[in-house]
Amino acid sequence: MIWRKNKAWIVPLGILSLLFFLGGPGETAWGGNAQCLSCHQDKDLAKKDARGKKVSLYVSEDLFGKSVHAGISCTDCHTRILDDAHAGKGVKEADRKVDCGACHEMSEKLFKTSVHSLRAEIACKECHGHHYIKPLTDPRSVTYRTNLIQTCGACHPEESEQFGGSIHGVELSRGRPNQPTCTTCHGTHAIRAKSDPESPVHFRKVAITTCPQCHAAERIMREYRFTTQPVRSYYDSFHGLSYRGGDAFSANCASCHGVHDIRPSSDPKSMIHRDNLQQTCGTCHPRASENFAKGKIHSVASIKGEDFGEKVVGWVRVVYILLIVMVIGGLTFFNFMDWLRKTIDRKP
Ligand code: HEC
Ligand code: HEC
Ligand code: HEC
Ligand code: HEC
Ligand code: HEC
Ligand code: HEC
Ligand code: HEC
Ligand code: HEC
Ligand code: HEC
Repeated sequence: MIWRKNKAWIVPLGILSLLFFLGGPGETAWGGNAQCLSCHQDKDLAKKDARGKKVSLYVSEDLFGKSVHAGISCTDCHTRILDDAHAGKGVKEADRKVDCGACHEMSEKLFKTSVHSLRAEIACKECHGHHYIKPLTDPRSVTYRTNLIQTCGACHPEESEQFGGSIHGVELSRGRPNQPTCTTCHGTHAIRAKSDPESPVHFRKVAITTCPQCHAAERIMREYRFTTQPVRSYYDSFHGLSYRGGDAFSANCASCHGVHDIRPSSDPKSMIHRDNLQQTCGTCHPRASENFAKGKIHSVASIKGEDFGEKVVGWVRVVYILLIVMVIGGLTFFNFMDWLRKTIDRKP
């Protein structure tokens, strides 16, 4: 028989099966999460960092088990820490790095284009945390829409504080739907600097998409018993017309309302409160008098207008149009009759 004649094949097979037992898929070979946790579940396990500060190395099995990553093993993320060899000699900086992008390609690709990656080099974990990440839909997740005020606020305290006190921030915290949060206006992973023309908050977009995405949406505004009138009237105003014509100095929504600190006109802290209008308009109209700022900004002439002034202007317009129709119509009629008369007279 052939196999008796040539027994050499047994050797490589033996080596192969030995390799399989020793160095097969990391998890099966080394016992998986339980073995990592046998040390790291110790609440007192800690090390000293370069500056001599104590860093906890504790990982809660319970919380990890409730995270979105409960189903994957420690070594899927810590790909360079496969056993307990590091316990004595420590972990090299490069070996500590975790590549979230290995499994979340799309998020990483977008993130690489953002100001956070290009200019600040912050890591995924600075927004998401690392071991105890919750599903996006969980209201306790740090990236849940109502929690972003705190999450982004850790590094942007000024914007977050202003936003938290604004009409949008207050209503958002109350859980009302269709209120903006940081990412509604700025995007999520591909956040750009406001000076970048691709940024969704670039000043050329503020009055075209940033605010109108909601304030020109009939369905959302009706839900709050609001109207889309501010946007419509803005587009017909001198500010709106010159803004859309490309005038970089014209006023957009944010010039008069602010961005993070938007408040209703009834709020004394609002930029559009009666008492503050002179100052608000004054930034661009330095000689603005009190009266200059008094005129209604978002009025549209309409007989169905919201107040007496708008109705009057609306009716004046109706009468005006009627007059034009009557005068021009009358003239045309008169000329036509005149022509008819003359044509008939000329007939032999
Ligand atoms: C979803 C990926 C992921 C998984 C799964 C994961 N880790 Fe981590 N772990 C990280 C990240 C990211 C860091 C922070 C690394 C850095 O930037 O220093 C980290 C840090 C650590 C640290 C340092 C202390 C700390 O909390 O910052 C320890 C210890 C650790 N991990 C142990 C474990 C153990 C044990 C498991 C399995 C139960 C595990 N990790 C599973 C991503 C993960
Ligand atoms: C025998 C106990 C033990 C076991 C088992 C163990 N570790 Fe560790 N681990 C340690 C100790 C001790 C340190 C601190 C080393 C040092 O001084 O830098 C550490 C450090 C780490 C760090 C680096 C933390 C940091 O910020 O520097 C990570 C990540 C880590 N372990 C992950 C794991 C993973 C993943 C496993 C399972 C494959 C594991 N450990 C198994 C004891 C253990
Ligand atoms: C500036 C904060 C921030 C950083 C940094 C960040 N994320 Fe996110 N990420 C978020 C927010 C906020 C959401 C929630 C989006 C939502 O609810 O629609 C999210 C959602 C996700 C999701 C769910 C799917 C999705 O795209 O909506 C994944 C996966 C994710 N991030 C992975 C990553 C990875 C990987 C990195 C690093 C390359 C990263 N994130 C960096 C804020 C951040
Ligand atoms: C080994 C692959 C792997 C790595 C590495 C990894 N993840 Fe995940 N991640 C997953 C899987 C699998 C899910 C669960 C997807 C699901 O449940 O639909 C998930 C889910 C998530 C979610 C929740 C998405 C949702 O829709 O609720 C976020 C956020 C997330 N990961 C962020 C991270 C971050 C941040 C890192 C790096 C610290 C990371 N992931 C590393 C595999 C990975
Ligand atoms: C309603 C839309 C909107 C929301 C919600 C919003 N922003 Fe902004 N944000 C803007 C606009 C528009 C600008 C650009 C302002 C400008 O051109 O001066 C901006 C600018 C910024 C800047 C740059 C500031 C500067 O002067 O350089 C940061 C940082 C920022 N926002 C963070 C946040 C954070 C954090 C949140 C959530 C707490 C948030 N934003 C919520 C619209 C918004
Ligand atoms: C770990 C800190 C950190 C976190 C968390 C963080 N950011 Fe930033 N962000 C930065 C830094 C640093 C810069 C400044 C980069 C530069 O301009 O040099 C920046 C820049 C920005 C800018 C651009 C400012 C400009 O120049 O116009 C915006 C917008 C922004 N962040 C929004 C957010 C939002 C929204 C979140 C939450 C989803 C968030 N950031 C979370 C650190 C952070
Ligand atoms: C995600 C949708 C959304 C975006 C984006 C948005 N808003 Fe709003 N805004 C609302 C809703 C809904 C209300 C109603 C809140 C309430 O009164 O309950 C509101 C209220 C307001 C108010 C106060 C009205 C009042 O009297 O109560 C002003 C002013 C305002 N928004 C201006 C802006 C400006 C300026 C922008 C752009 C920088 C903007 N909004 C972006 C949804 C949005
Ligand atoms: C030239 C300044 C200016 C510009 C530009 C402007 N607004 Fe206004 N807005 C005001 C003033 C002043 C009021 C107060 C009521 C009035 O005069 O109609 C107001 C009222 C509002 C209201 C009702 C809030 C309240 O409490 O009465 C909303 C909503 C609103 N504006 C949204 C917008 C949006 C969206 C844009 C951009 C498309 C915009 N505004 C552009 C000055 C401005
Ligand atoms: C961001 C700068 C800016 C702000 C803030 C601003 N305006 Fe203007 N405004 C302009 C510019 C630029 C023009 C010239 C537009 C054009 O016709 O080309 C203008 C034109 C006007 C005009 C037309 C007559 C004229 O002087 O040319 C009136 C009226 C006016 N603004 C009223 C106001 C009122 C009222 C406010 C405050 C609620 C205000 N503006 C806030 C920039 C601004």
